[in-house]
Amino acid sequence: MKLWIVLILIIGGVQCDGFSDQVFKTLNIGEGNACYRTFNKTHEFGCQATKDNENGLIVRIDKHEDFKNLDSCWRSFYPSYSGKFWAMVPVDLIRRDSISMLKSSDCLAGIVLYNSNQSMHPDEKTTAASHDGDCPNAASDYYFQNDTEAYCERKFNSRGSITPDGLMRMDWRVQMIFINNSTDLDVIKRCYSMFNTPREDGSTGYPYCGMSFRMTNMAAGNSEICYRRGKNDAKLFQMNIDSGDAPQLCGAMHSDNIFAFPTPIPTTPFNDTHHSSKYMMVASRMDSFGMIPEVSVGEVSVLTSIISVLAAARSMGDNIEKWKKASNVSNRNIFFSFFNGESLDYIGSGTTAYQMGKGMFPQSLREDRAHIHPVLLEELEYVLEVQQVGVAEGRKYYVHIDGDRYDQDRTPTDKIMDKIERGLRSHGFDLEKPSGSQRKVPPSSWHSFAKADSKVKAVLIAPFKEEYDYKRINSILDKNQWTSDEKEKAVQEIEAVATSILAASAEYVGLETDDVVAKVDKKLVTTLFECLITSNFWFDCDFMQKLDGGRYHKLFDSYGFNEKSTYISMETHTAFPTVLHWLTIFALGSDKETLNVKSEKSCSHLGQFQAMYTYTWQPSPYTGSFSCLKSAIVKKVMVSPAVDPSTPEEEMNTRYSTWMESVYIIENVNLYLMEDSSFEYTMLIISVISALLSMIAVIRCSEATFIVDEGEPAAEGGEPL
Ligand SMILES: *[C@@H]1O[C@H](CO)[C@@H](O)[C@H](O)[C@H]1NC(C)=O
Ligand SMILES: *[C@@H]1O[C@H](CO)[C@@H](O)[C@H](O)[C@H]1NC(C)=O
Ligand SMILES: *[C@@H]1O[C@H](CO)[C@@H](O)[C@H](O)[C@H]1NC(C)=O
Ligand SMILES: *[C@@H]1O[C@H](CO)[C@@H](O)[C@H](O)[C@H]1NC(C)=O
Ligand SMILES: *[C@@H]1O[C@H](CO)[C@@H](O)[C@H](O)[C@H]1NC(C)=O
Ligand SMILES: *[C@@H]1O[C@H](CO)[C@@H](O)[C@H](O)[C@H]1NC(C)=O
Ligand SMILES: *[C@@H]1O[C@H](CO)[C@@H](O)[C@H](O)[C@H]1NC(C)=O
Repeated sequence: MKLWIVLILIIGGVQCDGFSDQVFKTLNIGEGNACYRTFNKTHEFGCQATKDNENGLIVRIDKHEDFKNLDSCWRSFYPSYSGKFWAMVPVDLIRRDSISMLKSSDCLAGIVLYNSNQSMHPDEKTTAASHDGDCPNAASDYYFQNDTEAYCERKFNSRGSITPDGLMRMDWRVQMIFINNSTDLDVIKRCYSMFNTPREDGSTGYPYCGMSFRMTNMAAGNSEICYRRGKNDAKLFQMNIDSGDAPQLCGAMHSDNIFAFPTPIPTTPFNDTHHSSKYMMVASRMDSFGMIPEVSVGEVSVLTSIISVLAAARSMGDNIEKWKKASNVSNRNIFFSFFNGESLDYIGSGTTAYQMGKGMFPQSLREDRAHIHPVLLEELEYVLEVQQVGVAEGRKYYVHIDGDRYDQDRTPTDKIMDKIERGLRSHGFDLEKPSGSQRKVPPSSWHSFAKADSKVKAVLIAPFKEEYDYKRINSILDKNQWTSDEKEKAVQEIEAVATSILAASAEYVGLETDDVVAKVDKKLVTTLFECLITSNFWFDCDFMQKLDGGRYHKLFDSYGFNEKSTYISMETHTAFPTVLHWLTIFALGSDKETLNVKSEKSCSHLGQFQAMYTYTWQPSPYTGSFSCLKSAIVKKVMVSPAVDPSTPEEEMNTRYSTWMESVYIIENVNLYLMEDSSFEYTMLIISVISALLSMIAVIRCSEATFIVDEGEPAAEGGEPL
């Protein structure tokens, strides 16, 4: 074997390049495709490079039986090797029965995750693959904080969760990367099969194919430690939120939230804050996550529900005069909230509730100019949320409410539930109303408002009763192969739910629900399904390309912006908030009053001294032609008050989310040949020979490329602060 490699090196010395192209390789791992550190107030989670988990021999775990090799550390295959291993594991093998083996193994350096060719369908029931815990957002649950329930009493996700606490809350010893580039994946597989697969007689021998990778986090400990540093250096932190370029060790997870007001909120000239309106908020979440945070699209966790809300908003926009009239008479308004960071202890809704309590929502009061009358907590009567649309078992939906609040005044909620039922029935779906024990609200944005105000009521529409049926909520595997039947069923559900949102909203504002008011554009639902769910990227379909009109690439060109992801991080680097913002403007914006505006410049001038309205130069997704759209839509960054240096110290409590993320450095993956130590001398000689043959060869294939350098200084973990 040794002779063989020497031979290749000598022959290949001249063309070292060609040789290294085949096997010895440096692979670029994109930002967000490796596991890194996250924190809550008290704990750290995720992965970190140490001197023990950087280098390893590549092995494969292709089926469940292969996990048993973790116990024996593959000793029978590689008897003379005593180092660590990098295991290639398809994502769908990360399951309940394998996770503890991966977690406790003594011989793993890391895990290389990749998508298996096994496709999953939305009704796939056998694989528990949710990376969330048994009780999503258990610590920030209203009932738990209000002492009416024990921690994690109702286990909504226990059928789906891989671990009770969730993979996002695991502190790993190993490192992890996710590879989705088939070229890169093939290189690793080839390197494995050339050097590490046992021969026919079961034996193996040096050289082996090894891999090294380092993900170094700048921060350690927990978010309170990091927060204090941020607080001491608030200016630095602020600078970073704005520009992303000041040096920093960690940051609060934050991102854009979108709020849309179809009907005008009263504008008051100065800082007058008398109560004037009542509101129903129609809410849906924007974010999902997985063990490697940024490779989850959140099809059912996020996208299907968002499509139903967008479809409802578009109908409302089409009939806006009727809605305005009804709101003006009843003094009740509907507004839409797309919250971000909800899956991480309600970052978006928690911050919104905080701002409402302070009279700062949707914008801070300004003395110098007219401002929108703030929406106050006591004006918020209902939070209507939709979740997990598209995966109903049969044709049945459920509505969830809080029994105590419902009992205070049943009639209005009964009427709303009746309208929801009629909306669903008109599309052939049944609604089961809450009864008995089932009168507590599942994890949802309402919990944030419930904690802040004792009156605000919940109406949650979802296809589950006491436990989620879909087993891949908040998972890398929340990504489905939709057959045309499954797609049609999902589209019907989205349409039915959109209809019931409209019916409930109409009931609330006192508008007669008729065929026009509650009519949902099914074609739009189908198109959005194709564009947001079936397509590989947000802008892969004609509708979205027209809506983009060349704006997207002007804004973003970094790697993160070219992946479909709904994860929220410390830096706003996914395209999704922008995509959703544009779709909301499409749904609710109007160019009726601005038909004579013919340029981007004059359009943006219109908005200058406006409190309520924004004017956006945006193309129609149907025709592609630009116009100036007037809308009352706010895209607002929400930083949890618990970790926002500009809020008072005492807000650092458990009411608000404390999730933070470490700043990290990703190095490239290197594939190299491992030799036993006696070989190093041979290699030196080879290097000299190679040098004589070709200077370039020495530079490109220097000794270090091939040999594990055991004596390298220990790579320490992130310094505790
Ligand atoms: C942080 O996470 C740990 C582990 O899940 C949990 O025990 C703890 O209560 C969490 N702390 C907060 C403040 O949420
Ligand atoms: C998936 O790949 C394995 C080998 O890598 C192959 O045996 C199997 O047939 C493939 N399955 C599908 C559905 O393509
Ligand atoms: C919990 O909520 C109920 C109903 O709103 C309220 O009566 C009770 O005082 C709350 N308990 C605590 C401990 O906050
Ligand atoms: C991986 O790549 C395939 C095809 O290039 C794409 O369909 C898929 O969405 C990607 N998966 C992730 C998680 O990025
Ligand atoms: C995979 O990565 C290589 C570079 O390593 C790049 O040239 C290629 O375009 C990538 N393929 C895909 C499908 O992204
Ligand atoms: C705004 O309110 C503050 C106190 O609430 C008052 O002192 C101030 O004069 C008010 N400003 C205007 C312009 O009315
Ligand atoms: C509301 O109705 C009143 C009359 O009933 C009218 O004067 C007012 O302009 C209306 N407001 C809006 C915003 O339409």
